[in-house]
Amino acid sequence: MSAQNKATLSFTDGTPSVEFPIYPGSVGPDVVDIRKLYGQTGKFTFDPGFLSTAACESKITYIDGDKGELLYRGYPIEQIAEKCDYLDTCYLLLNGDLPDAQQSKDFSYLVMRHTMVHEQMTRFYQGFRRDAHPMAVLVGCVGALSAFYHDSLDINNPEHRMISSIRLVAKMPTMVAMAYKYSIGQPFMYPKNDLSYTANFMRMMFGNPCEEYVPNPVLVKALDRILLLHADHEQNASTSTVRLAGSSGANPFACIAAGIATLWGPAHGGANEACLVMLNDIQKQGGVAKIGEFISQVKDKNSGAKLMGFGHRVYKNYDPRAKLMRETCYEVLGELGLENDPLFALAMKLEQIALEDDYFVQRKLYPNVDFYSGIVQRALGIPTEMFTCIFALARTVGWIAQWGEMISEPDQKIGRPRQLYTGAARRNFK
Ligand code: CMC
Repeated sequence: MSAQNKATLSFTDGTPSVEFPIYPGSVGPDVVDIRKLYGQTGKFTFDPGFLSTAACESKITYIDGDKGELLYRGYPIEQIAEKCDYLDTCYLLLNGDLPDAQQSKDFSYLVMRHTMVHEQMTRFYQGFRRDAHPMAVLVGCVGALSAFYHDSLDINNPEHRMISSIRLVAKMPTMVAMAYKYSIGQPFMYPKNDLSYTANFMRMMFGNPCEEYVPNPVLVKALDRILLLHADHEQNASTSTVRLAGSSGANPFACIAAGIATLWGPAHGGANEACLVMLNDIQKQGGVAKIGEFISQVKDKNSGAKLMGFGHRVYKNYDPRAKLMRETCYEVLGELGLENDPLFALAMKLEQIALEDDYFVQRKLYPNVDFYSGIVQRALGIPTEMFTCIFALARTVGWIAQWGEMISEPDQKIGRPRQLYTGAARRNFK
């Protein structure tokens, strides 16, 4: 990073002015490098929620929230969604460039030969209550992988880092499907490596040992698109968690478990589950006729209600993933003969009203990816409680690519935010 411009910060309390370098990004906002602020002035910056703080330098994903643009390694998400499958996207995120035909084949072979989990993992699953939320199971079981793969835990060894990354991408579908099978009391399905990554996942979710499972290509493509659209999203809460956990030198399986825990919240990955619950509630209370009442409730700050699947910290325009998801939604509902699905009709109406309503227009609240992904997943037969697990599966590659990028930085430091302390000053015990 080289500074072309400088910023001067002056103070009214007598502290001398200080100058900071400004670094340009390849696209997007410049950053003011304030690392020397404390040393030079004895002051910290204050930015809870990271509203104006770039916590790292990255070359993986770029979002232009005003334009509604998402780039993976420079490629627009629309082109990736049209031309690539999920595994090619994983290759791109992990390696920096798209694979050629041979690299794509080799990568797929490599991933698909790591899909099985240690047989003893089944005992971990069996230790959970059957009615446990699958995200609780996933946080625990992914963390437990650290106890099985000691041979690739040297984070300072690039080869170990890549083996762990491949293991995580390969085993997540198996782990997620196991969480589902356990919850419904069906036997775990072993992976079938001659299927595609996504078809294999669908078989482990919906197949059983008594019958042959024949994947439907339209539905496989739809799920593959869900995975691809969720693969990375720069420095969101769960990715930042993975980076922070990893900055202490923790092993990648533990870091991804931390990311899964963060993803679980309804303001982040839990939103697609919350969105479907919301649509179901409105439907039960009277459907389209009740939308007006619901929107008034959402606008009333005291109600605590939010229009789930709307709004985003970064996108102040239509989330480009939401447009692609809406397209997939049409395809899936058409394939399954569910064009008149009442929840879909409700979602369309809700979107139309929200896009015209002053409250949403002024605050630039547009549909995000979760608004439609829940409807698609429900149509695929995925139960609501599994939605966030599917998100975790998809995001694992982004988390691990960001973790790997951070670890390979030569001057990587442990993440250690500071605070504005407003508690009691020193006092004596009486
Ligand atoms: N419904 C109603 N009002 C909203 C909503 C919403 N979904 N989102 C934001 N607002 C209002 C908010 O009350 C505030 O109003 P005011 O200025 O009058 O106080 C204003 O819009 C700005 O909101 P904010 O909470 O300051 O924005 P944020 O950047 O902190 O929050 C968000 C972003 C995604 C947490 C929030 O929009 C939200 O909770 N949305 C619903 C949950 C959701 O769909 N999350 C999925 C995000 S996409 C998937 C992912 O990347 O994880």
